[in-house]
Amino acid sequence: MNYKHALQNKIFKIISQSAKELHLDSYVIGGFVRDFILERGTAKDIDIVAIGSGIELAKQVAKNIPNQPKVQVFKTYGTAMLRYEDIEIEFVGARKESYNEDSRNPVVENGSLQDDQNRRDFTINALALDLSEENFGDLLDPFQGIEDLDAKIIKTPLNPDITYSDDPLRMMRAIRFATQLDFIIEKDSLDAIKRNNERIHIITKERIVVELNKILESKKPSIGFLLLEETGLLKHILPELSALKGIDEVDGQKHKDNFYHTLEVVDNIAPNTDNLWLRWAALLHDIGKAPTKRFSKKVGWTFHSHEFEGSKMVYRLFKRLKMPLNDKMKFVQKMVFMSSRPIVLAQDVTDSAVRRLVFDAGEYVDDLMTLCEADITTKNPHKFKKYHNNFKIVREKIVEVEERDSVRNFQPPISGEEIMKAFNLKPSKEIGLIKEVIKEAILEGEIPNEFDAAFQLMLKEGERLGLTKSE
Ligand code: CTP
Repeated sequence: MNYKHALQNKIFKIISQSAKELHLDSYVIGGFVRDFILERGTAKDIDIVAIGSGIELAKQVAKNIPNQPKVQVFKTYGTAMLRYEDIEIEFVGARKESYNEDSRNPVVENGSLQDDQNRRDFTINALALDLSEENFGDLLDPFQGIEDLDAKIIKTPLNPDITYSDDPLRMMRAIRFATQLDFIIEKDSLDAIKRNNERIHIITKERIVVELNKILESKKPSIGFLLLEETGLLKHILPELSALKGIDEVDGQKHKDNFYHTLEVVDNIAPNTDNLWLRWAALLHDIGKAPTKRFSKKVGWTFHSHEFEGSKMVYRLFKRLKMPLNDKMKFVQKMVFMSSRPIVLAQDVTDSAVRRLVFDAGEYVDDLMTLCEADITTKNPHKFKKYHNNFKIVREKIVEVEERDSVRNFQPPISGEEIMKAFNLKPSKEIGLIKEVIKEAILEGEIPNEFDAAFQLMLKEGERLGLTKSE
């Protein structure tokens, strides 16, 4: 089969010409070919294999590009990279590769194209297109990768035990591709992942998180998390989530399975947001339920303060996975911490409760509503409709309260300096007390968020505290 039409970008002719000048063969391989056949849009990455030195080929290609881009060389890996327009092109020499047991540092020897294809992760990622002048665009598909693309199957070129133990991250890549592409992992492969799941510990956290993020960014993330669970990988990387699995029953009283509930929430939120961190919040919103679960004869199952516990767990989880401990993490914590607020409020939508919600959630109040709407997983159509309607009312009230009281990014209408001036005070605790009273009165709707009303309240409160107004 010939795929010349996949190689219309000028760069492929330049690579072909450069390889000819060096008397070596070269091929496009991997994701570019796969995604072209799947019509997944134009790739931003191209992987080139040279039968010879990838670094030399990269340098020759750079010479043949009019603006002569810089070549970045990674000597230890024998690879080189350059940028052409907005595409990253990576060059590697064909390798016959095996990895030593307890790290993923490869022991490398030069090899043929077939050797190189053998050591790739999946048949659908081992497809190569010839870049030589004579066979330009010819497909080389020794493992029937095209058939697997058609049948939507993830399968390793070699015995899966070998492929996965060469680089255990591939176990997560299999699951990530299955999620992104909605493919099935072939049974032998799935069994091999189950057998090898412990080896995921030798992989750096950063690489694991890249795959988790890609699963979360997919259209239906639950596919990936169910597979992570089924293969036993989940308990190694996100034990907080595995701990949510299961239903306990005491005296005929059950609680819901919070793992499957969580996955429903993540799938529900996916069409409504591309914000990766809001998706993380959906994934983690109930993690505090495992450690706070209690049963009492009187009230049945409870998860007291699970939101608070959960938000503390978010920090520990991010730290363990070497994820950023910055405002993204704080955002996830805040969402988890506040995740039950709107649902409580929706039972009885009062102005002051909405004002407090907007005050506490600040700029993230819309994200919080999106999370809480996704959290409605009841199978009772009557309740489903009722909860959604209530949230609609909450959303309307948020807009209303916002227009009137602008509490979203609350700025006190009277500053500490103004209070000090009014009562001729030095910095003291009375200033804080007065500010708190004003803020509370605004949130309760007793006074509008305006200077004059706040000033009057300040005078009244000052008097109550025994302060004298300065002349
Ligand atoms: N590859 C591999 N084993 C890995 C990582 C990558 O065999 N652990 C090979 C595969 O042939 C893959 C190619 O290297 O197609 C490029 O890897 P990468 O850029 O990570 O993935 P893509 O397949 O391009 O897909 P995506 O861009 O979606 O990550």
